[in-house]
Amino acid sequence: MRTVKFGIIGCGLMGREFASAAARWCHLPDMDVRPEIIAVCDMNEKLFEWYKGNFSSIRQFTDNYKELLANDEIHAVYIAVPHNLHAEIYSAAIMAGKHLLGEKPFGIDKKDNGIISECIQKHPNVFVRCSSESPFFPAMQRIGHMIEKKAFGRILEVNSGFLHSSDMDFSKAINWKRMLKFNGEYGCMGDLGMHACHMPFRAGWIPKNVRAILSNVVGERPNGKGGMAPCETWDNATLFCEAVETDTDKEFPMTIKTQRIAPGHKNTWYLEVLGTKASARWSSKQINTVEMMEYTGGEQSWQVLDMGHETAYKSITGGIFEAGFSDSILQMWAAFLYELQHGKPISRFAGCVTPQEAALSHALFTAALESQKKGSVVEIDTSVLKML
Ligand SMILES: NC(=O)c1ccc[n+]([C@@H]2O[C@H](COP(=O)([O-])OP(=O)(O)OC[C@H]3O[C@@H](n4cnc5c(N)ncnc54)[C@H](O)[C@@H]3O)[C@@H](O)[C@H]2O)c1
Repeated sequence: MRTVKFGIIGCGLMGREFASAAARWCHLPDMDVRPEIIAVCDMNEKLFEWYKGNFSSIRQFTDNYKELLANDEIHAVYIAVPHNLHAEIYSAAIMAGKHLLGEKPFGIDKKDNGIISECIQKHPNVFVRCSSESPFFPAMQRIGHMIEKKAFGRILEVNSGFLHSSDMDFSKAINWKRMLKFNGEYGCMGDLGMHACHMPFRAGWIPKNVRAILSNVVGERPNGKGGMAPCETWDNATLFCEAVETDTDKEFPMTIKTQRIAPGHKNTWYLEVLGTKASARWSSKQINTVEMMEYTGGEQSWQVLDMGHETAYKSITGGIFEAGFSDSILQMWAAFLYELQHGKPISRFAGCVTPQEAALSHALFTAALESQKKGSVVEIDTSVLKML
């Protein structure tokens, strides 16, 4: 069993999710590689308590990411910091020769994403991937297998999205994720968009152009100090795309929807694929079930399948037991380490977001901003797919 020694930069919500996944690595009996967290970095030193209490392997605690990157024992880093810091810290990590799983959106905007891409090009021996756990739910894996087998026939329409209601409460105090400076102009697209793009991009469904409708519903929020602060980021985005299937060159409509103000939704991921031979749809609201319909002539009839624990990377959990968010995080980490060790993911839909896919998401979101401004359809620069 190879051990990859990790440092975490950004010990907040997502830093803890990785640490917790590493702590239950024994769930993955077939893995021949495992992470060991030996260093953590955050500006907020209060966060170290949880790590100290739970991980005896951590020997370095620092508020300076450069100190962590200078640690020769560390092979790889997970970086989960606000978006305005992605380009600076990801590039520094790559230049220090550390393998990297970086959080989405992988740069606050297209320019910063370009800086990261350039750095990756100059350091081809460093393994770099972007985080998104959306394909790692069992139902998504099943849809992925259908795509691989070309079970859908000609694709008629794809709808993919991620819906929150985390901002329905207008009296909720503002945090960095609602501020332009830290979150970026993309707003909800930067926060949620990569998740909604991961499956379609991996399927080779490439958006050619976009007409975006973006809404900023909440103009200001309590600042937590008794006053109000401007809340300038987009709350909801619907992207109407003309997409092309790379394999067949056939075009079809695709929507990518990301919302922070989606009535009735706490944290809903969904994907719907409609084709001439088969259709499938899944929503994390019914996390354990995927709906499928094969069309062979005659009546059309949807089937509802319980998915259980059909994961990409073998788990000790019983096959009939349902999966959840933290299972998809564990699977994503298995994907990162498996690909680091073996040079490719265990299957097409069991890999983390590539730098090319992240760059394509930036091309899409940047075109969406322009589309909103002009009120018209904007072409998407898909040349980024060949860039790296
Ligand atoms: N994959 C997912 O499902 C998912 C979910 C939520 C957030 N995210 C992404 O993860 C990243 C972090 O989000 P979060 O929810 O964990 O945020 P968070 O605010 O909980 O954590 C970010 C941490 O970064 C720290 N930080 C800020 N500046 C720093 C610096 N210079 N050096 C070291 N640490 C610094 C903060 O103190 C904070 O603890 C973002 O890119 C976000 O989009 C991903």
